Amino acid sequence: SNYQETYRNQFHYSANKNWINDPNGLVQLDGVYHMFYQHNPYGNEWGNMSWGHATSTDLIHWKEQPIAIPEAENSPWVDFWFKTKDDTKPVHYIGTPTTNWDGGHPNGKKYIFSGSIIVDKENKAGFGKNALLAYYTSTYQVAVRDDDTSKDPLGNYLGLREIQEQCLAYSTDGGKTFTKYKGSEPIIPVTAVPNEQTGNFRDPKVVYDDEHKVWAMTVVTGQEVDIYTSTNLIDWKYQSNILRKHDVGNGVWECPELIPMTVSGTKEKKWVLSLSVQNGAPAGGSGMQYFVGDFDGKAFHPETSETMKNPKWLDYGEDFYAGITFSNVPDRTIMLGWMSNWSYVGEQHTSPWKGEMTLPRELTLKKVAHQDYQLIQEPVKEINNLSNKVVQLGNKKVKAINETKVNKVTNYQGQHYRLSAEFSWKEKTMPTQLGFNLRESKDGSKKVVVGYNPKTQTAYIDRTKDGENISRNSTKVKLDSDQKKIKLTVYVDSSSIEVFINDGEKVLTQVMYPNPDQPSDSNGLSYFVSNGEVKMKHASVTKLNSIWG
Ligand code: FRU
Repeated sequence: SNYQETYRNQFHYSANKNWINDPNGLVQLDGVYHMFYQHNPYGNEWGNMSWGHATSTDLIHWKEQPIAIPEAENSPWVDFWFKTKDDTKPVHYIGTPTTNWDGGHPNGKKYIFSGSIIVDKENKAGFGKNALLAYYTSTYQVAVRDDDTSKDPLGNYLGLREIQEQCLAYSTDGGKTFTKYKGSEPIIPVTAVPNEQTGNFRDPKVVYDDEHKVWAMTVVTGQEVDIYTSTNLIDWKYQSNILRKHDVGNGVWECPELIPMTVSGTKEKKWVLSLSVQNGAPAGGSGMQYFVGDFDGKAFHPETSETMKNPKWLDYGEDFYAGITFSNVPDRTIMLGWMSNWSYVGEQHTSPWKGEMTLPRELTLKKVAHQDYQLIQEPVKEINNLSNKVVQLGNKKVKAINETKVNKVTNYQGQHYRLSAEFSWKEKTMPTQLGFNLRESKDGSKKVVVGYNPKTQTAYIDRTKDGENISRNSTKVKLDSDQKKIKLTVYVDSSSIEVFINDGEKVLTQVMYPNPDQPSDSNGLSYFVSNGEVKMKHASVTKLNSIWG
């Protein structure tokens, strides 16, 4: 593909062909950013999970590379007995491991699930200075037999069991090729978890704790995060766990991470525990949560006794998931996520690719109250490398008493841009709505609305009028305080929109497929005000160039 398909994003990463999901092993080495990711090299749906690979020197222009870690070939015949953490009686596992997902795609291979990469600068593991160490989850299913072999020499077949274990692969050629440590023998075997969690033990993320001089790994076990530590990067010791407090939904946790941060404008150190949760997110389906606290080299301590009960959300749109940060970036914390949602991904019909990454975001931590911290997120500054023509919309006063006024932007049309504006109003003439109509059809009947309701202090993206006939529609977020003003910075691409509110206080990330009957007729832009008066300041549209080609 030449990346020119109708809904192909022009400044967000997607694989040239086929399915992608979570970013994996994000790392910087010698000025090159590496993005690995969950990838099906053979099809446009989830399956054959392998680590795909792309590289960049500015976090924005990505070049796809050959598959880095393919699904494991030739899974050997296994025949072993083992006890999980809580078993009283060992179980007999025998047969060829399969990835027999829901009976769907059995292929006798072990899948390479999500994980992370670190740079072994001091050659602690012994593979070489600056070797890249990739920690990933090996996932497969085995046949469970009982020990009664009277009817069958293998014992009675009791069913399939899913196994997830943490493995290590290393690269000494800067991420081009990876060698599996001890032929993919797990470094943390499935026996570390209780019986019912053998299929929910995954997504290792490794980070260095400067203060306690130890490497820490977070890995999920169902609705729990387990923390392991190591000093040689190969032997990992279980240290502690964090339990989910059943705040929302009933899905398992995925892709946990401990992120060391310094509170903005201070020297105070904090640790952010970020997580992806399969359902119960504010916009429905899957989403990302975080908790702020401290790490003592062994355990995470939430800021207060209430912290774990009141998760904060990274994003209030439907499409920000499985985000992790780049390793080995000294002065910034940069996260990117999979721009999708497990509950609706089946309704995405792009081809020959499926799945896109969000823009990389720089995270900073702000103290907002006593024992209360908040992540601020803004696209990395390198996004400006794409800036093209800037169109000023000017400073305007718009009065619309008992009506809605829509002003068409006549000097800009397009699908790839950053739009930004500040709106302010007075209490007495506070409008009921304000914002932008984006991706508008010529006749104005189809559009995506990014707006704000000052009365309810709710910012939103409304997709119900863009002509799509799918279940995703409008997502919203309530702002914390009413300051009689709002700043909106909106990144619009072929099939996605990211709204950063008040310089990254809140974010809405949303996939969209405007005007499917005539997608090219969706280039219009206008701004509107209802029932009040606003001042629009510093409003501009910056056309963004394509990263492809
Ligand atoms: C999150 C996730 C991970 C898993 C991977 C499989 O989206 O479910 O937990 O490792 O995707 O592709």
